[in-house]
Amino acid sequence: MHLPKITIVGAGQVGSTAAHLMAKKELGNLVLLDIDVGMAQGKALDIAEAGPVEGFDVDVSGTDDYADIAGSEVVVITAGSPRQPGMERTELLRRNVRVVAAASREIARHAPEAYIVLVTNPLDAMVCAAQEVTGFPAHRVMGMAGVLDSARMRRFIAQELGVSGKDVTAMVLGGHGDRMVPVTGSSTVGGIPLTELLPRERLDAIVERTRHGGGEVVELLKTGSAYYAPGASIVDMVESIVRDQRRIRPVAAYLKGEYGIEDLYIGVPAIIGAGGVERVVEIGLTDSERLQFDASVDTVREMIDEARDALDAGS
Ligand code: NAI
Ligand code: 2OP
Repeated sequence: MHLPKITIVGAGQVGSTAAHLMAKKELGNLVLLDIDVGMAQGKALDIAEAGPVEGFDVDVSGTDDYADIAGSEVVVITAGSPRQPGMERTELLRRNVRVVAAASREIARHAPEAYIVLVTNPLDAMVCAAQEVTGFPAHRVMGMAGVLDSARMRRFIAQELGVSGKDVTAMVLGGHGDRMVPVTGSSTVGGIPLTELLPRERLDAIVERTRHGGGEVVELLKTGSAYYAPGASIVDMVESIVRDQRRIRPVAAYLKGEYGIEDLYIGVPAIIGAGGVERVVEIGLTDSERLQFDASVDTVREMIDEARDALDAGS
């Protein structure tokens, strides 16, 4: 059986969790790349050694040499610092944009045909930086956040109603931050509109908790941010690409007029398949959701400008 090669740049909490889940699903042969080569090799070995117990058979290797990513079909970038309690967004942005730009240059050189799934925060600005640095067509560079934010919303709805999260659909649009837009009108439970099942004040509480879902985990962990649900969300997107599943997922995709927005990466529903972001899907928004989406667009544009300034200042 032909297995695609999948590279994960950044073998920390999120990267290694995603790698383990990908190995379990036998999505591909995996390369973990990290500046800490011993850690990447150690985690790769550890994951590979789980194979006989868990019943998977893929190659998993660790490296710090970008030459080893040659031929990768998908490269996931999780390299960079996670959010710490109290850390300023600008500090995280300046630190991580240099890491993402350096990784992107190497990916363009060694895996010029790859699809890139960006994960490093602040997400929307990092996806934009990766696309600009690689010069890859926009449909080959996308960001993971909406799948995670929607998963959190699905979980909160399921808990509130006492039902299985498997039957809950939810859609979270906009940038990955406090201004994300959980669209309650698109959520269903077993096909029933969520708005018929919960009163407005309960919906509002779920929307608010979803917006701060990442921060809630950071506050509890104290030393880093979430990685189990992020890892699972990465795998969901990568699977849709390498198995050409054409799932509709909220992803950070490049807009060229969709939603009335030109030339911007932001979270919207899109069809994800062997062609990467194959089509952005436009859904109707209420007046209030539209205002929130526009506010989120403004925030993302500001972050992208800050990221470009940080890169210019460093070059
Ligand atoms: P972590 O600190 O556990 O792992 C980061 C890894 O990146 C470390 O192993 C580090 O050695 C490596 N690294 C740093 N600079 C590098 C470079 N220049 N080249 C290669 N590797 C390098 O952090 P964690 O928890 O895995 O988070 C990773 C990133 O993912 C963070 O920016 C975090 O905010 C983001 N994140 C994004 C989510 C999303 O929904 N988009 C969800 C969860 C995390
Ligand atoms: C999360 O949402 C911090 O972006 C990270 O968990």
